[in-house]
Amino acid sequence: MDNKKVGLSDTTKAKTEPKTFRRNPIIGTKFTIAISSAKGGVGKSTVASNLALALKKMGLNVGLLDADIYGPSLPKLFSINEKPESDGQNLKPILKYGIQCMSIGFLTEEQTPMIWRGPMVISAIKTFTQKVLWKNLDFLIVDMPPGTGDTQLTFAQEINMDGVIIISTPQEIALQDVKRGIRMFDKLKVKILGLIDNMSHFIGDDGKKYAIFGEGGVKKDC
Ligand SMILES: Nc1ncnc2c1ncn2[C@@H]1O[C@H](COP(=O)(O)OP(=O)(O)OP(=O)(O)O)[C@@H](O)[C@H]1O
Ligand SMILES: [Mg+2]
Repeated sequence: MDNKKVGLSDTTKAKTEPKTFRRNPIIGTKFTIAISSAKGGVGKSTVASNLALALKKMGLNVGLLDADIYGPSLPKLFSINEKPESDGQNLKPILKYGIQCMSIGFLTEEQTPMIWRGPMVISAIKTFTQKVLWKNLDFLIVDMPPGTGDTQLTFAQEINMDGVIIISTPQEIALQDVKRGIRMFDKLKVKILGLIDNMSHFIGDDGKKYAIFGEGGVKKDC
């Protein structure tokens, strides 16, 4: 009997190789910066909105993309109740406080849950980055959802991003998740621009500073 060696065919081997993606630029913006954190509720949407407003105040043209498909915040944060105009192909961002805004929340009713599987989310992200008529922006700020899932992966692999700002709060349990998020972007070679230590303290009526969630963890992890 012939001694034949068993192995994978070249075609199957090629299929098991890691996929290489082309990173598409977002048309209409010079820079794209994401605000992210694998942890939920640490202030991503708050920072994204304030950063967009601060850049606008500096005289720059700014866009704000709410990439949180399951839990959009922008309609509430910017009090936007209108629907964006569309020509059937593209969507026009809604201008509020001088900022070009887009969110899945502009297209759905407030109470409607998004019961979508991953591919639908990826498709929505591609629409928001390729089919929105962002105009003459210096910065597009992207408010990411919590986690290290389809949205983060799509942005990191298929969209040209200039960097990510990571938000954390000082608790150990938050930092543990945040570190996972940092590692993900690091692995996918997306530049981490910095970490923000949010909710680090509050100042009481007595004028004293209270670090209710602990101190120094974020700085140590930098
Ligand atoms: N520095 C801060 N001081 C006080 N409250 C804050 C601060 N940052 C955020 N918050 C409040 O914390 C809550 C959560 O913030 P936010 O919605 O921005 O978090 P998130 O990370 O975007 O949440 P999610 O993961 O659900 O998208 C909000 O009520 C917000 O007003
Ligand atoms: Mg949010």
